[in-house]
Amino acid sequence: MKIFIDSADIEQIREVAALGVVDGVTTNPSLVAKTGRSFEAALADICDAVDGPISAEVVSTEADGMIEEGRRLAGLHPNIVVKCPMTVDGLRATRVLSDEGIRVNVTLIFQPAQGLLAAKAGAAYVSPFVGRLDDIGEYGMGMVAALVEIFDNYDYPTEVLVASIRSPLHFVEAARMGAHVATCPPAVILQLVKHPLTDIGLERFLADWQKVPK
Ligand code: E4P
Repeated sequence: MKIFIDSADIEQIREVAALGVVDGVTTNPSLVAKTGRSFEAALADICDAVDGPISAEVVSTEADGMIEEGRRLAGLHPNIVVKCPMTVDGLRATRVLSDEGIRVNVTLIFQPAQGLLAAKAGAAYVSPFVGRLDDIGEYGMGMVAALVEIFDNYDYPTEVLVASIRSPLHFVEAARMGAHVATCPPAVILQLVKHPLTDIGLERFLADWQKVPK
């Protein structure tokens, strides 16, 4: 399973990318707003820091505007993947952009049928938001299992990019279900590294090492 960083903060991205396990980055308008920087400046730094797919989201709500924005964003760097929302206009834009060879990540997926339509429109990735479904009392990961099964049934090349991940449990479940990508906030990726028994074990090894004659 590929690991993407879900952030637009260049310092966090550099810190996590240094682990050597990161394959790409996803951003969204809320994450970009948190940086206080311009979208283009943030994207340029992210593209320098990580050599992999970098999702950049359009903010137009009509297909023509999304297409124009998508072309402009894709022109900024070869690794840019254009993120379009799962709406009627978003699907139309996805079809046009993907026919032009621009990779599209269809975002804000909350049920498997939406993901299937996005795949049919040519999306390279679909982003099911698992945490936000959990927040309203639904089982978000169920949607991931369904999408993996559907894409496998019909050999769709579209990748299931699990988004809105809130914990290591989401990450592990995504991998067990065969999701192609998990995009995680930096804090979750750092949590994946940690286990208290690892820390205790290391402490004991180092203490015992002091007893070895030098
Ligand atoms: C990623 O592409 C999504 O925009 C992101 O994972 C949303 O996460 P949130 O639900 O924690 O905001």
